[in-house]
Amino acid sequence: MSQIHAAITAVGSYVPDYVLTNQELETLVDTNDEWITTRTGIKERRILKEPGKGTSFLAIKAAQNLLEKKQLDPAEIDLVIVATATPDLPVAATAVFVASEIGAVNAFAYDLQAACSGFLYGMSTAAAYISSGRYKKVLLIGADKMSSIIDYKDRATCIIFGDGGGAVLFEPNEEGLGHQDEILRSDGIGREFLKIEAGGSIKPATVETVQNKEHFVYQDGKTVFKFAVTNMADVSVKIMDRNHLTPADVHWLVPHQANKRIVDATASRMGIEEHKVLMNIERYGNTTSATLPLLLSDYERQFKKGDNLIFAAFGGGFTWGSLYLKWAYNS
Ligand code: UT7
Repeated sequence: MSQIHAAITAVGSYVPDYVLTNQELETLVDTNDEWITTRTGIKERRILKEPGKGTSFLAIKAAQNLLEKKQLDPAEIDLVIVATATPDLPVAATAVFVASEIGAVNAFAYDLQAACSGFLYGMSTAAAYISSGRYKKVLLIGADKMSSIIDYKDRATCIIFGDGGGAVLFEPNEEGLGHQDEILRSDGIGREFLKIEAGGSIKPATVETVQNKEHFVYQDGKTVFKFAVTNMADVSVKIMDRNHLTPADVHWLVPHQANKRIVDATASRMGIEEHKVLMNIERYGNTTSATLPLLLSDYERQFKKGDNLIFAAFGGGFTWGSLYLKWAYNS
């Protein structure tokens, strides 16, 4: 019997309607369109404005988009994983609610937290469940309502992040298509440089923590930038080397959308030409767990069966990695 590979067989996505432009940010903090565009590549982001709606809203919409496109009965899904850094509630996994709302009545569900690498790590988890033969249909969702943890008076973070969600379905493939290889890494040094200080078990919420704005994301951008550029490129080059892939063999680079300069540096180290580098940061900013599936959704029509995709991500923690996958279908 041939080895079971875990292939992506469907993609869905959702972004909220509200567009937060660089021009609007100019009215909130001391910044300007030219600085944001040249330093990050971002022009606008989507924001989920409606009160009472959390990350699950984005995740459910993305999953429903996938189910509709694939004409899939949700009762067939075995497992729902939601990668997110902004769960609906600190306790009670968002994925469990999402699974129920989409009608995945036979599934179990849980969240996965690895900041901006959450979806990449989730791909590894989903693929392992499939290739082991244990499950047949794993729905992996990456969704974040970053606007819920951003201080719109902090120009170091508010220009970067946006809200969105994306979903993929993993299924067994016996033609050798799907997940091929991965390198996943982490380093706890990172939590000094990218974190939410309060609201966790070390420093539970108090009136003071709220007044001190300790429930918003803090980022030492310059340090994170340096780690991201080096580490994302290192693992991506390594995964090409050990799979004997030349730049010509790589059809698409699917990089986490943190900053266009980080993506350009990674592509350049790998020797990948610009037209093969998936990019939508200009429209969505950094949506944390959602960047990779949003890219897949935007570019799905251009992928061909058998194409070699290299995924790369870097995020808080620090967490990072690269994953090699062969695309399994023509749209
Ligand atoms: O996805 C998770 C991982 N996160 C990342 O990968 C983010 C990595 N970091 C970055 O993308 C970049 O570091 C930022 C976009 C956050 C910042 O870009 P930078 O080129 O590292 O800028 P900087 O922080 O070194 O600041 C350069 C200058 C400073 O002014 P002085 O000290 O040179 O006078 C800042 O005060 O730019 C100033 N500055 C701004 N100016 C206008 C910082 N933020 C802004 C702003 N608008 N929004």
